[in-house]
Amino acid sequence: MDTSGHARSFGAAAGQYARARPGYPADAVDWLVPPAARRVLDLGAGTGKFTAALAARALDVVAVEPSERMLAELTAALPGVPAHRGTAEATGLPDASVDAVVVAQAWHWVDPARAVGEVARVLRPRGTLGLVWNVRDDSVPWVREVWALAQRGVEQEMQVEDPVVGAPFGPLERFVTGFEHVTDRAGVLDLIASRSYVIVLPEAERTALLGEVASVLDTHPDLRGRTELRLPYRTWCVRTRLEG
Ligand SMILES: C[S@@+](CC[C@H](N)C(=O)[O-])C[C@H]1O[C@@H](n2cnc3c(N)ncnc32)[C@H](O)[C@@H]1O
Repeated sequence: MDTSGHARSFGAAAGQYARARPGYPADAVDWLVPPAARRVLDLGAGTGKFTAALAARALDVVAVEPSERMLAELTAALPGVPAHRGTAEATGLPDASVDAVVVAQAWHWVDPARAVGEVARVLRPRGTLGLVWNVRDDSVPWVREVWALAQRGVEQEMQVEDPVVGAPFGPLERFVTGFEHVTDRAGVLDLIASRSYVIVLPEAERTALLGEVASVLDTHPDLRGRTELRLPYRTWCVRTRLEG
């Protein structure tokens, strides 16, 4: 779905991404990776937010990511994890070499028709594909205000409930959980600066936008006197298994 260059934009904000984006809740990781899985591919691994959770479970992890700068952050944070450049459409891994593939916050950037074939190729028989997205809960007024400003009407379509997968994978199973990301003013600004639609703005527009966001954070009545900012998220998980 990379029609605009947004999918290739992340490297330019890799540092902010690594600093600011939340990780994934433990119950989501447990649900997405089958207990019998040993070798797991984190595909579209970015700076390693999901990779870290896999590595902490003593799994044999391999990370694949197209952006060199995102990969550099991953390797700095997780030097023991083999990581290399590749895409969901061309991972560079051997046939039938992993038990599970997880794609965290990235399936909406791939071409599902090609990625499904590639993921099926690298999975062992009955292997699983897990998709996960952290989605901000905009029911908190200041959160809604800040992101409405940041998005300026740009809607990212993530299809978290019904992503396109299809044969040779079986039916989709779903699980939703949630968590609070505890951050601060600088963290919110980095979070916004790491969004693809902000990264691709001309520099003057990006600076102006971040200035407007800072002004909301500094003046919103609900944030008066607060240094710790709590961002609620829902985590949408989908898993499916190779059939046949
Ligand atoms: C929102 S980030 C998610 C990164 C990481 N998985 C995480 O959870 O933090 C999206 C990632 O998808 C990567 N990406 C974009 N197009 C891709 C593709 N066709 N195949 C694999 N990854 C892709 C980007 O480079 C970026 O690192």
